[in-house]
Amino acid sequence: MTRPIYLDYNGTTPHAPEVVEAMLPFLQTEFGNPSSSHSYGLRPKRAIIESRAQVARILGCSPSEVLFTSGGTESNNHALKSIGGSRYAKGTHIITSSIEHPAILEVCRFMENHGFTITLLPVDADGLVNPSDVAAAIRADTIMISIMHANNEVGTVQPIAEIAKLARQRGILMHTDAAQSVGKIPTSVDYLNVDLLSVAGHKAYAPKGIGALYIREGVEAEMFCHGAGQENGRRAGTENVLEIVGLGKACEVAGAEMAMHIDKMKNMRDRLEQGLAAALNDIRFNGHRKHRLPNTSSVSFRGLEANRLLEEIGPYVAASAGAACHADHVEISHVLKAMRVEQEWAKGTLRFSTGRFTTEDEIDRALEHIVAAVKRLRR
Ligand SMILES: Cc1ncc(COP(=O)(O)O)c(C=O)c1O
Repeated sequence: MTRPIYLDYNGTTPHAPEVVEAMLPFLQTEFGNPSSSHSYGLRPKRAIIESRAQVARILGCSPSEVLFTSGGTESNNHALKSIGGSRYAKGTHIITSSIEHPAILEVCRFMENHGFTITLLPVDADGLVNPSDVAAAIRADTIMISIMHANNEVGTVQPIAEIAKLARQRGILMHTDAAQSVGKIPTSVDYLNVDLLSVAGHKAYAPKGIGALYIREGVEAEMFCHGAGQENGRRAGTENVLEIVGLGKACEVAGAEMAMHIDKMKNMRDRLEQGLAAALNDIRFNGHRKHRLPNTSSVSFRGLEANRLLEEIGPYVAASAGAACHADHVEISHVLKAMRVEQEWAKGTLRFSTGRFTTEDEIDRALEHIVAAVKRLRR
């Protein structure tokens, strides 16, 4: 049976072959505990050191600033709660945006119930946060600004460096959720000027259940998980060596081949958008035209219902309505709402996301199925 054409790389990515190859020994023979002093622990221990360096390289930071986590969600939780804890005496106000992933928004909601105050910034029609809104929201008790680097649904890339400059001038810590951008576009922490940055492995051809958090040297963050002191005492628990190795390799490959992959993803995404625009009326693309991930296309099919369209194309094309992580029903996403996309457009919005394995032939076949389905449903 042939499987649908995969156009949901923002939902998750397949494992890169290099990643699988790097992980194999750790599934087979290298099962040792990296904390063991006997010889079984040696290779796992060395592998973690190498992986940390590989992750550090793609972020342009020092390995000691990389903390392994279980993924984007944990990294975001850790960033907000640990800084909230360590800076509590200084202030309790946090600034974020209305289009963040639930892995930020729900953490903020939790923190609100524990004495913090959250400001949710609006975005414009392209999904951009305006740095002057950030400046206006800053208060004497603001301790942290957390704005996502790239949005998972519409792909808009935020002016993080500009926002971070405002934060730095006022002694406020800057975090960015880079779950969707690491491996897709450059994510140097110095260029972005951030103090903390979240990485999600499974968006970058590594397995699910692994991620990282960059914490700038000197930034005090409360310990997240108490126990035997792994990860320099910051996150206890025997390390997920297998997946740490996978994440390291994924970052190495992504860093070495980034320009090539950007071209490829963008060509495939643009081919899809051009094909849709040429064949169909009443469609529009959401997200910033220029400041957008190279692989993401959020398309609104006016008057249609996203779930119906997904059902129609489902046997042939795998895409998503709203954010993949929490969507099995169509409810206008909080991102499109924040961008004030009108109801008749928003309810018929699908997200297609291309990746390094997407081919021209796949895009052309996907186009045939999508165009035919839209015409059928509109009839
Ligand atoms: C922007 C963003 N942040 C965080 C996450 C959560 O990452 P993870 O699935 O690794 O927990 C996702 C996943 O969709 C995401 O797109």
